[in-house]
Amino acid sequence: MKTYNIAVIGGDGTGPEVIAQGLKVLDAASSKFDFKIEKTMFDIGGERFLKTGEILPESLIEDLKGFDAIYLGAIGDPRVKPGILEKGILLRLRFELDQYINLRPVVLYDKKYCPLKDKSERDIDFTVVRENTEGLYCGAGGFLRKGTEYEVAIQESINSYKGIERCCRFAFEYARKRNKRKKVTLCGKTNVLTFAFDLWERTFYKVSADFSDIATDYAHVDATCMWMVKNPEWFDVIVTDNMFGDIITDLGAMIQGGMGIAAGGNINPHGVSMFEPIGGSAPKYTGKNVINPLAAICAGGMMMDFLGEEKAAKAIEDSVKKTVVEKMESLSAGKMGYSTQEVGDLVVKFL
Ligand code: IPM
Ligand code: MN
Repeated sequence: MKTYNIAVIGGDGTGPEVIAQGLKVLDAASSKFDFKIEKTMFDIGGERFLKTGEILPESLIEDLKGFDAIYLGAIGDPRVKPGILEKGILLRLRFELDQYINLRPVVLYDKKYCPLKDKSERDIDFTVVRENTEGLYCGAGGFLRKGTEYEVAIQESINSYKGIERCCRFAFEYARKRNKRKKVTLCGKTNVLTFAFDLWERTFYKVSADFSDIATDYAHVDATCMWMVKNPEWFDVIVTDNMFGDIITDLGAMIQGGMGIAAGGNINPHGVSMFEPIGGSAPKYTGKNVINPLAAICAGGMMMDFLGEEKAAKAIEDSVKKTVVEKMESLSAGKMGYSTQEVGDLVVKFL
């Protein structure tokens, strides 16, 4: 029987709760579709940092390289200064494992959850391909004369030809595989960021030459936000840099029903990928059995898709859709009409 070795990092806040539901669904899927999930749990996050001072041991990164995939709950703890855990764990894993794509599908399963007037399921179905290892996230820059009146803070955006090229190529290949509107839109800011997005634009069109079956389009990031609200049906695949991708995917999550349903994959097509709900650690809901586990369950489904279990992935997605359409009252924490565990049970039942 095919066995997948999965590293599980529940992480902070509600992370472990939602991952528990995701694992329950993956177990059900594995017995139905005849594969095995071997889980290894890792204790990393705010709690461990506060107890031991340890963020992410070097040896652990090496360990993680030996797994088929990583399943991550959430990183972020209000007791720890912003940036320490996010940069020290989440971003470090993305960078060190060279997960150069952050893939974020924006799909509306039921129009009753959409805040946009007159938009329905067929209008909201696109995927953001966010570059995940460069841009403003590199940590390039620093302070000059810190703490004085003459202080300067510099934060630089790093954009390499190779980094952009592989990201754009992934986006075009993904649009081909999706086989829907067959269009890739570059989201940038060529009118102001005339160095970074000049390179992005030239590279995007260069790569597009290898994909004559896929249409190209361009929108500035501000206009992208506007179109996502006004005409989301125009989009199929959006490719963009790290920072813009971070911002527009929160907007994307809202138009698909909220953070409770938004999943993402940090993909290294040639290495170890990491799948996570994109909503964060939601500290105020921790331990209350009220958080929506569907984003984590969807992330688990994406993971199976990338591991080659397409049927299981499709079945998980269909079961989530059924749960959302037939059962839930809301996708928000505490208002679902069911507890975290019960939502997980419903997905298992439909599976
Ligand atoms: C996300 C998050 C992270 C990011 C934070 C927690 C560092 O917002 O995955 O979108 O900015 O990438
Ligand atoms: Mn974000």
